[in-house]
Amino acid sequence: MEEKDLINKLKEIKEKEDVSAIKKELQSFVEAINNIKEDVIGYEYDDKALTINKTTLCIYLNNMLEQSSKERVDFYYDRLIKALTEVKTSKYNDINLNRWKEYDDILTDSLWIIDQRDKNASHSGDYWGNFVPQIPNQLLKRYTKAGEWVLDPFLGSGTTLIEAALLGRNGIGIELQEHVAKIAKERVEAIQPTETKSEIVLENSQAIELDKVLKQLNIKKVQFVLMHPPYWDIIQFSKHKSDLSNNETLDDFLDAFGQVIDNTTQYLEKGRFAAVVIGDKYEKGEWIPLGFYTMQEFLKRGFKLKSIIVKNFDETKGKRNQRNLWKYRALSGGFYLFKHEYIYVFQKK
Ligand SMILES: C[S@@+](CC[C@H](N)C(=O)[O-])C[C@H]1O[C@@H](n2cnc3c(N)ncnc32)[C@H](O)[C@@H]1O
Repeated sequence: MEEKDLINKLKEIKEKEDVSAIKKELQSFVEAINNIKEDVIGYEYDDKALTINKTTLCIYLNNMLEQSSKERVDFYYDRLIKALTEVKTSKYNDINLNRWKEYDDILTDSLWIIDQRDKNASHSGDYWGNFVPQIPNQLLKRYTKAGEWVLDPFLGSGTTLIEAALLGRNGIGIELQEHVAKIAKERVEAIQPTETKSEIVLENSQAIELDKVLKQLNIKKVQFVLMHPPYWDIIQFSKHKSDLSNNETLDDFLDAFGQVIDNTTQYLEKGRFAAVVIGDKYEKGEWIPLGFYTMQEFLKRGFKLKSIIVKNFDETKGKRNQRNLWKYRALSGGFYLFKHEYIYVFQKK
C-alpha cells in the first residue's frame, strides 16, 4: 500500500454496496496491514505526512468488521476517519482525544506503581529526596500544552524542569539552596532545547516576588504548578530558617506551605491545575497524615480536588538493609510500613 493511499483505500471500501462486500474487503485490508513490518503506518492527509500505530488502526478496522449492519459499520468508519484526519484536544493538554487509544504511555488510574526510575537525559537519582522523572512527565503531559509555563516552587535537583524542557514546555523553578539550584541549572542546561526556556531562581518560595520574575520573562501567568515540598522534617534539606523542613511544629509547617500556595498559585491561570507530591510520616508511634493536611490547605483556598493518586514508594537503602528489623518493629508496634506517597491534583476555580 502506498503511504498516501490509506484514506482513499478506506473510502473505496466504504463505497461497496452491502455489508458482506465491505467486510470481505476489510478482511483482506486488515491482512495487508498486518503484513506491514513497521509498528507505525504513514499516510497523507491535507498534504501533511501523518502516522497511526498499526495496532490502533487494526483495532478500528476490527471494530468495523464486528458489525452486522451498514449503519454500525458506517459509525466505526466515521470514527476512524476522524481519528485519521481531525485533532481534538482539551483546553489544557495536547492529547488528541480522537486518537485516545494510542496513549498507552499516559496513566489514567489512581494507583501508580513505578518500579524503575527513568534515567534518560540528564536525570540522576543522587539528590536525596528527589522524585522520579515519571511523576512530572505524566503530569505535564496531562496538564500542559507544548510552549506553556510550569512552575515548581521546590525545585531541588531540577527534575521538573528537565522533563518540561524534554516535553517542549517552559519552566520556572524556585530553590532555597544555592548549591542545589546550581546542580539543577547544570542539569537543565545539559538538555535544554533552544525552543524552550527555563528560569531557576534562588529564593524562598514563601516570599519571592514572582510578579517580577514573570515580568522579566514577559508572561503574566503560568499554566501548571507542581509542588514537591519537604515531607515536613523527615529529611532536613538545609539549615535555612525558611526551609520547610525546619519548621518546629506541624502547624508551622502547614502555615509555611499555605504561604507558598498563596504566593505561587495567584499566578496560576484560572481553570488550570496544581499538583502536590507528598508522603506521610510517623512520630512517636503515631501516623501523621501530612498528605491529607496539605490537601486541606488547598481545599481551604477554594481549589477543586481532581484526584488523589497513590504511588508506590521505594524503601531507602538503609531501610532495605534492615528489612527484618522494620518488620519486627511494625509487628510489635501495631503499625504498617510506609510503601506509598500521594499525588494530589487540584484545579483552580
Ligand atoms: C522534596 S525536595 C524537591 C526535590 C525535587 N522534586 C527533585 O526532584 O529534585 C524539596 C526541596 O525544597 C527546597 N525548599 C525547602 N523549603 C523551601 C522554600 N521555602 N523555598 C524554596 N525551596 C525550598 C529544599 O531545599 C529541597 O531541595
